[in-house]
Amino acid sequence: MKILVVGSGGREHALCWKLSQSPKVDTILCAPGNGGTAQVGTNIPIKDDDIPALVAYAKSEAVDLVVAGPELPLVLGLQNALTKEGIPCFGPSAFAANLEGSKAFSKNVMHESGVPTASFRVFDEFEAARSFIEEKGAPIVVKADGLAAGKGVVVAKTTEEAIGAVEEMMVKKAFSSAGDRVVVEECMAGEEASFLAFCDGVNYALLPSSQDHKAVGEGDTGPNTGGMGAYSPAPILPEEKYEETAELVIRPILRHLAAKGEPFKGILYAGLMYTENGPSVLEYNVRFGDPECQPLLMRLESDLVDIMFACIEGRLNEIEVKVRPETACGVVMAAEGYPGSYPKGMEISGLEDADALEGVKAFQAGTQLKDGKVVTSGGRVLCVTALGRDLKEAQTRAYEAVGKIHFDKSYYRRDIGDKGLNR
Ligand code: AMP
Ligand code: GLY
Repeated sequence: MKILVVGSGGREHALCWKLSQSPKVDTILCAPGNGGTAQVGTNIPIKDDDIPALVAYAKSEAVDLVVAGPELPLVLGLQNALTKEGIPCFGPSAFAANLEGSKAFSKNVMHESGVPTASFRVFDEFEAARSFIEEKGAPIVVKADGLAAGKGVVVAKTTEEAIGAVEEMMVKKAFSSAGDRVVVEECMAGEEASFLAFCDGVNYALLPSSQDHKAVGEGDTGPNTGGMGAYSPAPILPEEKYEETAELVIRPILRHLAAKGEPFKGILYAGLMYTENGPSVLEYNVRFGDPECQPLLMRLESDLVDIMFACIEGRLNEIEVKVRPETACGVVMAAEGYPGSYPKGMEISGLEDADALEGVKAFQAGTQLKDGKVVTSGGRVLCVTALGRDLKEAQTRAYEAVGKIHFDKSYYRRDIGDKGLNR
């Protein structure tokens, strides 16, 4: 079987790595890929948002399955275009991908299907948003409706900050048309967790809970990033609560979209906040989280190809999704300066030494292969992931592996997993 993975991050390296373990797979292709995916398969120089080129390539190469890593190609209709050509694609349709592509759509679906979420209002006009914020007061949260590369959410401590954020989005067009519409919502407080499920339109199969570390600095300080590390399971969402939580935040969405004739197939990712009143959904993503994907796939025992086809073909209820009982912890090694500007092109050493440690895999994100060497090419460079009998062992192994790896100007948080250990 020939599989094309779309994307270029640590998540995509993990997807290629896991998919390549299936006895059914002989060829892994990744568009555009990174230094890690080039070691598992072949990188194809097509960008993740070039839907016509991706479809044409998949067709000409007779690809058996396309796996969408990031949200953008899904929102742009990759699944629809491939399905029209008879090529199986793992990931939701463009309509269902709006759960992530449009915050207003997503909030309305949550509201209509009874999913717990912060109270909100949608605005198409600056003045109306401003007077609502003045009436409600701070803290308050402002979200650009469309995709904004993870920068479209402002948790404002003052009304001035909130109004300034709306002005940036609606008037100054900081995110172009993604900010024409904004969601203004109640600010909640609590610990966050990620809860991901494979979905086939009707049924779901749960992955264990996980927790991201969004802020760049230790103790969750400094600006938000794509994620500086993740571990699974997250003690805040223990296994005995999985079913009940899924019935609260996954099942209603599947029912709602199926009733609209747009069943959700793929990964449904609920970003949860544990408030005083229990879990509340911050957002949905329509794909694996990055970096949550790396620890989750280290724990996945079942053949990922089988699971993906079961999702596409609507027979998830016929298979078993088996997960290892161990804990996994992934530490992101970034280039100093990220999420601001950072240097590129530094040579990375010690990857083999890290991988040689028991239960360790150093997934690559912002890297490329140059003359046989792995060099940095992005802000998040690696996600060094380890399995352990418990969180302490997984964390210790992950940091031991980080210690084997070197590149100039590397930066990582030293507290990935501490929140779980302190519970
Ligand atoms: P989102 O992209 O919607 O997940 O938002 C990014 C981050 O902003 C979340 O992970 C939270 O830390 C924070 N956030 C989003 N919505 C809220 C809210 N209603 N209250 C407090 N924090 C929020
Ligand atoms: N780790 C958060 C995300 O992938 O959106």
